[in-house]
Amino acid sequence: MAHSICVAWLLLLVVIVMSDMTNGGVQGPIEGYNSLDEMMTTTASGSQSQQAMMLPTAPTVGYTHPKWMEPYFDPSTPRNVTALMGKSAYLSCRVRNLANKTVSWIRHRDIHILTVGSYTYTSDQRFQATHHQDTDDWTLQIKWAQKRDAGMYECQISTQPVRSYFVRLNVVVPTATILGGPDLHVDKGSTINLTCTVKFSPEPPAYIFWYHHEEVINYDSSRGGVSVITEKGDVTTSFLLIQNADLADSGKYSCAPSNADVASVRVHVLNGKYKPTTPTCPKHSTSNTLTP
Ligand SMILES: *[C@@H]1O[C@H](CO)[C@@H](O)[C@H](O)[C@H]1NC(C)=O
Ligand SMILES: *[C@@H]1O[C@H](CO)[C@@H](O)[C@H](O)[C@H]1NC(C)=O
Ligand SMILES: *[C@@H]1O[C@H](CO)[C@@H](O)[C@H](O)[C@H]1NC(C)=O
Repeated sequence: MAHSICVAWLLLLVVIVMSDMTNGGVQGPIEGYNSLDEMMTTTASGSQSQQAMMLPTAPTVGYTHPKWMEPYFDPSTPRNVTALMGKSAYLSCRVRNLANKTVSWIRHRDIHILTVGSYTYTSDQRFQATHHQDTDDWTLQIKWAQKRDAGMYECQISTQPVRSYFVRLNVVVPTATILGGPDLHVDKGSTINLTCTVKFSPEPPAYIFWYHHEEVINYDSSRGGVSVITEKGDVTTSFLLIQNADLADSGKYSCAPSNADVASVRVHVLNGKYKPTTPTCPKHSTSNTLTP
Protein backbone atom coordinates (compact mmCIF):
# COMPACT_ATOMS: atom_id res chain seq x y z
CA MET A 1 0.00 0.00 0.00
CA ALA A 2 2.68 2.43 1.09
CA HIS A 3 4.77 1.37 -1.90
CA SER A 4 2.09 2.15 -4.49
CA ILE A 5 1.51 5.59 -2.95
CA CYS A 6 5.19 6.27 -3.29
CA VAL A 7 5.19 5.14 -6.95
CA ALA A 8 2.15 7.28 -7.71
CA TRP A 9 3.84 10.27 -6.12
CA LEU A 10 6.93 9.77 -8.25
CA LEU A 11 4.81 9.49 -11.40
CA LEU A 12 3.16 12.77 -10.52
CA LEU A 13 6.55 14.37 -10.11
CA VAL A 14 7.67 13.07 -13.52
CA VAL A 15 4.55 14.52 -15.12
CA ILE A 16 5.14 17.87 -13.43
CA VAL A 17 8.73 17.99 -14.65
CA MET A 18 7.67 17.04 -18.18
CA SER A 19 4.95 19.65 -18.39
CA ASP A 20 7.38 22.18 -16.99
CA MET A 21 9.81 21.37 -19.79
CA THR A 22 7.25 21.53 -22.54
CA ASN A 23 6.25 24.94 -21.23
CA GLY A 24 9.79 26.10 -21.75
CA GLY A 25 10.84 25.56 -18.17
CA VAL A 26 14.50 24.80 -18.89
CA GLN A 27 16.31 27.94 -17.86
CA GLY A 28 19.82 26.63 -17.69
CA PRO A 29 21.98 23.60 -17.19
CA ILE A 30 21.85 23.74 -13.40
CA GLU A 31 18.11 23.59 -12.79
CA GLY A 32 17.07 21.71 -15.93
CA TYR A 33 19.66 18.95 -16.14
CA ASN A 34 20.39 18.31 -12.49
CA SER A 35 16.76 17.66 -11.65
CA LEU A 36 16.54 15.28 -14.61
CA ASP A 37 19.48 13.27 -13.27
CA GLU A 38 17.87 13.05 -9.87
CA MET A 39 14.62 11.82 -11.34
CA MET A 40 16.37 9.12 -13.33
CA THR A 41 18.25 7.70 -10.36
CA THR A 42 15.17 7.82 -8.14
CA THR A 43 13.05 5.97 -10.68
CA ALA A 44 15.68 3.54 -11.91
CA SER A 45 13.90 0.46 -10.49
CA GLY A 46 10.25 0.90 -11.29
CA SER A 47 7.71 0.60 -14.05
CA GLN A 48 7.98 4.32 -14.66
CA SER A 49 11.69 4.14 -15.52
CA GLN A 50 10.84 3.98 -19.21
CA GLN A 51 8.97 7.23 -18.96
CA ALA A 52 11.89 8.84 -17.17
CA MET A 53 14.31 7.68 -19.85
CA MET A 54 12.27 9.52 -22.43
CA LEU A 55 12.77 12.85 -20.71
CA PRO A 56 16.01 13.88 -22.42
CA THR A 57 14.34 13.65 -25.82
CA ALA A 58 11.22 15.44 -24.64
CA PRO A 59 9.66 17.76 -27.23
CA THR A 60 11.21 21.23 -27.34
CA VAL A 61 8.08 23.27 -27.84
CA GLY A 62 8.68 26.78 -26.48
CA TYR A 63 12.29 25.85 -25.82
CA THR A 64 14.40 28.74 -24.51
CA HIS A 65 18.11 28.99 -25.21
CA PRO A 66 20.02 27.59 -22.18
CA LYS A 67 22.36 30.11 -20.62
CA TRP A 68 25.47 28.07 -21.43
CA MET A 69 24.65 28.35 -25.12
CA GLU A 70 24.68 32.14 -24.98
CA PRO A 71 27.62 34.15 -26.34
CA TYR A 72 30.61 34.67 -24.08
CA PHE A 73 34.09 36.19 -24.35
CA ASP A 74 37.12 33.94 -24.55
CA PRO A 75 38.92 34.98 -21.35
CA SER A 76 42.33 34.54 -23.01
CA THR A 77 41.70 37.57 -25.24
CA PRO A 78 44.46 40.13 -24.49
CA ARG A 79 43.30 43.08 -22.38
CA ASN A 80 46.42 45.21 -22.84
CA VAL A 81 47.67 45.84 -26.36
CA THR A 82 50.70 47.90 -27.34
CA ALA A 83 50.99 49.33 -30.84
CA LEU A 84 53.61 51.43 -32.58
CA MET A 85 52.73 54.94 -33.56
CA GLY A 86 52.09 55.21 -37.29
CA LYS A 87 51.49 51.46 -37.65
CA SER A 88 48.29 49.41 -37.47
CA ALA A 89 46.94 48.44 -34.05
CA TYR A 90 44.94 45.22 -33.74
CA LEU A 91 42.47 44.66 -30.88
CA SER A 92 41.11 41.15 -30.55
CA CYS A 93 37.68 40.15 -29.35
CA ARG A 94 37.03 36.40 -29.32
CA VAL A 95 33.35 35.57 -28.86
CA ARG A 96 32.13 31.98 -28.53
CA ASN A 97 28.54 30.93 -29.36
CA LEU A 98 27.79 34.23 -31.01
CA ALA A 99 24.87 32.73 -33.04
CA ASN A 100 22.85 35.58 -34.50
CA LYS A 101 24.13 38.28 -32.11
CA THR A 102 26.36 41.15 -33.24
CA VAL A 103 29.79 42.27 -32.03
CA SER A 104 30.45 46.02 -31.84
CA TRP A 105 33.54 48.02 -30.95
CA ILE A 106 33.14 51.20 -28.93
CA ARG A 107 35.78 53.79 -28.10
CA HIS A 108 35.46 54.76 -24.47
CA ARG A 109 37.03 58.21 -24.63
CA ASP A 110 33.93 59.62 -26.33
CA ILE A 111 31.54 56.58 -26.26
CA HIS A 112 31.81 56.44 -30.03
CA ILE A 113 30.54 53.33 -31.85
CA LEU A 114 33.33 52.40 -34.26
CA THR A 115 32.12 49.18 -35.84
CA VAL A 116 28.99 47.03 -35.79
CA GLY A 117 29.68 43.54 -37.11
CA SER A 118 31.93 44.03 -40.12
CA TYR A 119 30.48 47.47 -40.83
CA THR A 120 32.49 50.61 -39.97
CA TYR A 121 30.15 53.00 -38.22
CA THR A 122 32.45 55.99 -37.81
CA SER A 123 33.45 58.36 -40.59
CA ASP A 124 37.09 57.74 -39.57
CA GLN A 125 37.90 55.01 -42.08
CA ARG A 126 41.05 54.03 -40.16
CA PHE A 127 38.80 51.74 -38.11
CA GLN A 128 37.84 48.37 -39.50
CA ALA A 129 36.52 45.19 -37.92
CA THR A 130 37.39 41.84 -39.47
CA HIS A 131 35.81 38.52 -38.55
CA HIS A 132 38.06 35.47 -38.48
CA GLN A 133 35.77 32.45 -38.51
CA ASP A 134 38.43 29.95 -37.41
CA THR A 135 39.27 31.84 -34.21
CA ASP A 136 35.83 33.44 -33.51
CA ASP A 137 37.77 36.69 -33.51
CA TRP A 138 36.33 40.11 -34.27
CA THR A 139 39.52 42.09 -34.73
CA LEU A 140 39.41 45.86 -34.66
CA GLN A 141 42.15 47.30 -36.84
CA ILE A 142 43.19 50.91 -36.28
CA LYS A 143 45.35 52.07 -39.16
CA TRP A 144 48.15 54.59 -38.63
CA ALA A 145 47.73 54.52 -34.84
CA GLN A 146 48.19 57.89 -33.16
CA LYS A 147 48.90 58.86 -29.55
CA ARG A 148 45.29 60.02 -29.17
CA ASP A 149 44.06 56.52 -30.12
CA ALA A 150 45.48 55.19 -26.85
CA GLY A 151 42.91 54.30 -24.19
CA MET A 152 40.07 51.94 -23.46
CA TYR A 153 38.05 50.12 -26.11
CA GLU A 154 34.92 48.09 -25.47
CA CYS A 155 33.92 45.00 -27.40
CA GLN A 156 30.19 44.55 -26.98
CA ILE A 157 27.81 41.65 -27.74
CA SER A 158 24.23 42.58 -28.56
CA THR A 159 22.72 40.33 -25.89
CA GLN A 160 19.98 41.59 -23.58
CA PRO A 161 21.55 43.07 -21.47
CA VAL A 162 24.72 43.66 -23.49
CA ARG A 163 28.00 41.96 -22.57
CA SER A 164 31.24 43.92 -22.62
CA TYR A 165 34.96 43.16 -22.77
CA PHE A 166 37.45 45.97 -22.24
CA VAL A 167 40.79 46.23 -24.00
CA ARG A 168 43.40 48.91 -23.31
CA LEU A 169 45.47 50.22 -26.21
CA ASN A 170 48.89 51.77 -25.64
CA VAL A 171 50.55 53.63 -28.51
CA VAL A 172 54.31 53.90 -28.20
CA VAL A 173 56.89 55.95 -30.05
CA PRO A 174 60.56 55.13 -30.63
CA THR A 175 62.46 55.98 -27.42
CA ALA A 176 66.18 56.55 -26.92
CA THR A 177 67.87 55.92 -23.55
CA ILE A 178 71.50 56.14 -22.45
CA LEU A 179 72.27 53.42 -19.89
CA GLY A 180 73.50 54.43 -16.46
CA GLY A 181 72.26 58.03 -16.68
CA PRO A 182 71.65 60.75 -15.76
CA ASP A 183 75.20 60.99 -14.28
CA LEU A 184 78.21 58.83 -15.14
CA HIS A 185 81.52 58.96 -13.28
CA VAL A 186 84.70 57.97 -15.09
CA ASP A 187 88.30 58.04 -13.92
CA LYS A 188 90.78 60.13 -15.84
CA GLY A 189 92.70 57.98 -18.30
CA SER A 190 90.04 55.27 -18.56
CA THR A 191 87.60 54.68 -21.43
CA ILE A 192 84.24 56.45 -21.50
CA ASN A 193 81.71 53.89 -22.74
CA LEU A 194 78.24 55.30 -23.40
CA THR A 195 75.45 52.92 -24.48
CA CYS A 196 72.38 54.34 -26.22
CA THR A 197 69.41 52.03 -26.93
CA VAL A 198 66.51 52.81 -29.26
CA LYS A 199 63.34 50.85 -28.46
CA PHE A 200 59.84 50.69 -29.98
CA SER A 201 61.19 51.56 -33.38
CA PRO A 202 59.30 49.83 -36.24
CA GLU A 203 62.53 49.86 -38.20
CA PRO A 204 66.08 50.68 -37.03
CA PRO A 205 66.91 54.39 -37.10
CA ALA A 206 68.60 55.46 -40.33
CA TYR A 207 71.38 57.06 -38.26
CA ILE A 208 72.33 57.98 -34.69
CA PHE A 209 74.30 61.15 -33.98
CA TRP A 210 76.28 61.64 -30.77
CA TYR A 211 76.81 65.10 -29.31
CA HIS A 212 79.27 66.43 -26.73
CA HIS A 213 77.84 69.63 -25.27
CA GLU A 214 75.81 70.75 -28.29
CA GLU A 215 78.31 69.76 -30.96
CA VAL A 216 78.24 66.66 -33.13
CA ILE A 217 81.13 64.41 -32.18
CA ASN A 218 83.61 64.11 -35.00
CA TYR A 219 85.08 60.62 -34.97
CA ASP A 220 88.05 61.75 -37.07
CA SER A 221 88.97 64.70 -34.84
CA SER A 222 92.56 65.37 -33.80
CA ARG A 223 91.64 64.19 -30.29
CA GLY A 224 91.70 60.61 -31.51
CA GLY A 225 90.53 57.51 -29.67
CA VAL A 226 86.84 58.16 -30.39
CA SER A 227 84.77 55.40 -31.96
CA VAL A 228 81.15 54.37 -32.36
CA ILE A 229 79.71 50.89 -32.76
CA THR A 230 76.06 50.62 -33.76
CA GLU A 231 74.13 47.35 -33.71
CA LYS A 232 70.79 47.55 -35.50
CA GLY A 233 67.88 45.29 -34.61
CA ASP A 234 64.52 45.25 -32.81
CA VAL A 235 66.40 47.25 -30.22
CA THR A 236 69.16 49.31 -31.84
CA THR A 237 72.21 49.95 -29.67
CA SER A 238 74.96 52.48 -30.25
CA PHE A 239 78.18 52.50 -28.19
CA LEU A 240 80.29 55.65 -27.99
CA LEU A 241 83.83 54.87 -26.82
CA ILE A 242 86.25 57.62 -25.85
CA GLN A 243 89.64 56.29 -24.83
CA ASN A 244 92.00 57.90 -22.36
CA ALA A 245 89.39 60.21 -20.81
CA ASP A 246 90.56 63.68 -19.93
CA LEU A 247 88.92 66.32 -17.72
CA ALA A 248 87.92 68.17 -20.92
CA ASP A 249 85.81 65.16 -21.91
CA SER A 250 83.41 65.92 -19.03
CA GLY A 251 80.00 67.38 -19.71
CA LYS A 252 76.76 66.60 -21.44
CA TYR A 253 76.59 63.81 -24.02
CA SER A 254 73.53 63.24 -26.19
CA CYS A 255 72.37 60.45 -28.44
CA ALA A 256 70.11 61.64 -31.27
CA PRO A 257 68.57 58.86 -33.40
CA SER A 258 66.91 59.82 -36.68
CA ASN A 259 63.49 58.60 -35.47
CA ALA A 260 63.40 59.27 -31.69
CA ASP A 261 63.81 62.07 -29.19
CA VAL A 262 67.29 62.95 -27.94
CA ALA A 263 68.62 61.22 -24.78
CA SER A 264 71.33 62.81 -22.65
CA VAL A 265 73.71 62.04 -19.77
CA ARG A 266 76.29 64.07 -17.88
CA VAL A 267 79.78 62.58 -17.73
CA HIS A 268 82.10 63.49 -14.86
CA VAL A 269 85.75 62.67 -15.49
CA LEU A 270 87.41 62.40 -12.08
CA ASN A 271 90.99 63.42 -11.57
CA GLY A 272 93.02 60.51 -10.23
CA LYS A 273 93.94 62.28 -6.98
CA TYR A 274 90.21 62.29 -5.94
CA LYS A 275 89.91 58.63 -6.78
CA PRO A 276 88.47 56.79 -3.77
CA THR A 277 90.75 54.24 -2.16
CA THR A 278 87.86 52.21 -0.74
CA PRO A 279 84.86 50.94 -2.70
CA THR A 280 82.43 52.37 -0.11
CA CYS A 281 81.69 55.63 -1.92
CA PRO A 282 78.23 55.11 -3.49
CA LYS A 283 78.86 57.81 -6.11
CA HIS A 284 81.38 55.61 -7.84
CA SER A 285 79.53 52.35 -7.64
CA THR A 286 77.72 53.10 -10.89
CA SER A 287 80.80 54.33 -12.73
CA ASN A 288 81.38 53.09 -16.20
CA THR A 289 85.11 52.84 -16.09
CA LEU A 290 87.48 50.57 -17.89
CA THR A 291 91.08 50.31 -16.90
CA PRO A 292 93.25 51.06 -19.91
C1 LIG B 1 50.12 47.33 -20.49
O1 LIG B 1 51.24 47.30 -21.35
C2 LIG B 1 52.09 48.44 -21.24
C3 LIG B 1 53.15 48.37 -22.31
O2 LIG B 1 53.68 47.09 -22.45
C4 LIG B 1 52.66 48.47 -19.84
O3 LIG B 1 53.50 49.58 -19.69
C5 LIG B 1 51.52 48.55 -18.84
O4 LIG B 1 52.02 48.49 -17.54
C6 LIG B 1 50.54 47.42 -19.04
N1 LIG B 1 49.38 47.65 -18.20
C7 LIG B 1 48.78 46.69 -17.52
C8 LIG B 1 47.59 47.08 -16.72
O5 LIG B 1 49.17 45.53 -17.57
C1 LIG C 1 18.07 35.20 -32.88
O1 LIG C 1 17.64 33.86 -32.79
C2 LIG C 1 16.64 33.65 -31.81
C3 LIG C 1 16.35 32.16 -31.76
O2 LIG C 1 17.51 31.43 -31.83
C4 LIG C 1 15.40 34.46 -32.19
O3 LIG C 1 14.42 34.30 -31.18
C5 LIG C 1 15.76 35.92 -32.30
O4 LIG C 1 14.65 36.65 -32.78
C6 LIG C 1 16.91 36.09 -33.27
N1 LIG C 1 17.30 37.47 -33.23
C7 LIG C 1 17.63 38.14 -34.31
C8 LIG C 1 18.06 39.57 -34.09
O5 LIG C 1 17.59 37.65 -35.43
C1 LIG D 1 80.35 49.22 -23.18
O1 LIG D 1 79.30 48.99 -22.23
C2 LIG D 1 78.35 48.05 -22.67
C3 LIG D 1 77.20 48.02 -21.64
O2 LIG D 1 77.69 48.07 -20.36
C4 LIG D 1 79.01 46.70 -22.85
O3 LIG D 1 78.06 45.76 -23.28
C5 LIG D 1 80.12 46.84 -23.88
O4 LIG D 1 80.78 45.62 -24.03
C6 LIG D 1 81.09 47.93 -23.48
N1 LIG D 1 82.04 48.12 -24.57
C7 LIG D 1 83.36 48.11 -24.38
C8 LIG D 1 84.22 48.25 -25.61
O5 LIG D 1 83.86 48.01 -23.28
